[in-house]
Amino acid sequence: MIAIGSDHGGFELKEHILEHLRGEGIEVKDFGVHSEESVDYPDCAKPVCEAVLGGECERGILVCGTGIGISIAANKFKGVRAALCGDVFSAKMAKEHNDANIICLGGRVTGRELAFMIVDTFLEAEFQGGRHAERIKKIHQIEK
Ligand code: RB5
Repeated sequence: MIAIGSDHGGFELKEHILEHLRGEGIEVKDFGVHSEESVDYPDCAKPVCEAVLGGECERGILVCGTGIGISIAANKFKGVRAALCGDVFSAKMAKEHNDANIICLGGRVTGRELAFMIVDTFLEAEFQGGRHAERIKKIHQIEK
């Protein structure tokens, strides 16, 4: 199960990604928002982060206007590694090297078709471990 959420700035792109992934047969849980009414992005990051950290969802997708605010907020949750990605290479590396468990996108920045490629790439990628695992351990040390 994949968790997805957005604020109002990311709502439209979030809806398109949701439809795209479901069209691919991927199970996605939508944590909202459900309209373009103005909300605060930290509130939108929270349920997706909790679903990923709690194990209900394997990976998460968060969208705000730029992807910046929601990624900053998500990375305050201990154990979340949220990567703001605007290109496919970064999306692949975010999982392979950084073991990102949440990908963030900017709904006002990244076009729909590119966003689909970014999300697909992130979801298909696997963490490579090895030297990268040692670096993730150092992130855990910082969190402590
Ligand atoms: C909302 O207007 C906007 O500030 C928000 O979606 C996001 O871009 C913040 O980083």
